[in-house]
Amino acid sequence: MGKLSGFFADDNIEEIMFDGAHESVKVYHTMYGMCDTNVRLTLAEATQTVEDIASFNGKKVSSYNPLLDGVLPDGSRVNAVLPPISVNGPAITIRKFKKQVMNACDLINSGTLSEDACAFLWCCIDGLGYRPANILFAGGTSCGKTTLLNALSMFMPHRSRIVTIEDTPELRLPFSNLVRLETSLDPPVDMDMLLRNTLRMRPDRIVVGEVRGPECKSLFTAMNTGHDGCMGTIHANTARETVEKAINPPMDVPPVMLRALDLVVMEQRLNVGGKTSRRITEISEIGGMENDVPRLNTIYTFDQNKGELRRTGVPSKIRTKIAEAGGLTPKAFDEILLKRMSVLSKLCRETLDIEGFKRAVEREGKV
Ligand SMILES: Nc1ncnc2c1ncn2[C@@H]1O[C@H](COP(=O)(O)OP(=O)(O)O)[C@@H](O)[C@H]1O
Ligand SMILES: [Mg+2]
Repeated sequence: MGKLSGFFADDNIEEIMFDGAHESVKVYHTMYGMCDTNVRLTLAEATQTVEDIASFNGKKVSSYNPLLDGVLPDGSRVNAVLPPISVNGPAITIRKFKKQVMNACDLINSGTLSEDACAFLWCCIDGLGYRPANILFAGGTSCGKTTLLNALSMFMPHRSRIVTIEDTPELRLPFSNLVRLETSLDPPVDMDMLLRNTLRMRPDRIVVGEVRGPECKSLFTAMNTGHDGCMGTIHANTARETVEKAINPPMDVPPVMLRALDLVVMEQRLNVGGKTSRRITEISEIGGMENDVPRLNTIYTFDQNKGELRRTGVPSKIRTKIAEAGGLTPKAFDEILLKRMSVLSKLCRETLDIEGFKRAVEREGKV
């Protein structure tokens, strides 16, 4: 990557942006946010970089074919736009591949998630082995949806057969019975085709990165036909907007199908003490229908004053469903949740790699 290679050595650099030869390269740093650098690329160097990336991806770019999406050998994602579409010369945006996959404890330790909400999500994701929940992770661009889904997926039972469906392969799930599917432009294979195919692959779990269009209806069809434990990310700014997007074009999910969705988990980028931090700001459930519009019950909400995610006290429907499926009392569910909170609290004080974390979850999560 020539002059850009130095940025790949620092795992705290999340994104690398080149806006034109007149400007220095910008980077987005985990702690310092958007930063200027002293690196500049000439027009020739930038054009060569884009051509190299295109050729690595088996693609061609030119002024007639000016948009490029691709990956780098290390797994980083690249988007490039060439003139004349991009006015100031080539524009290059690199979303860096994180060497270290984040687990739930990383999210708790960085304040994204509370131990209580994480234990609740753990119970919902494995469903205590009785009834896993269908969950959508929602938020704006780059607010951490994929990272959150990836981290929490480690709570799925380890022998599950998992199929992931994505436009660009970002999910890295540490499972052995895993099939990763990716859409393609040529030949044209879209998310919806992949989702329908997945139903013939005997999946225990279907995980969709970024639900955008008609595949949303297929995902809800799967949820409604007994495929519990489906998860996906969706671009939306509130839980309300998430369900509204789902029932309107181009997703067009019939409102009655939304009942199969158990949780919407909202993540946002907030300013905490002058720094941008990612926080889970809401966990909601579909409470029921009012004139064909889903009503939401908020189970967890972010308290801006205290800066913490807290329970609202609204009774959770998925808690009842899981308890009933397992013949447990709601109190027994809460006891398991408490035990898992203390497990998380212990794990979050240790430094475990992904394998170690997975083993601990399996060992300590037994019901
Ligand atoms: N909770 C978090 N704490 C710190 N960094 C995070 C967190 N979540 C995501 N990131 C980083 O932010 C960037 C964008 O995250 P990503 O999950 O791809 O967002 P999205 O899927 O919402 O677009 C990545 O570089 C990722 O490593
Ligand atoms: Mg994403």
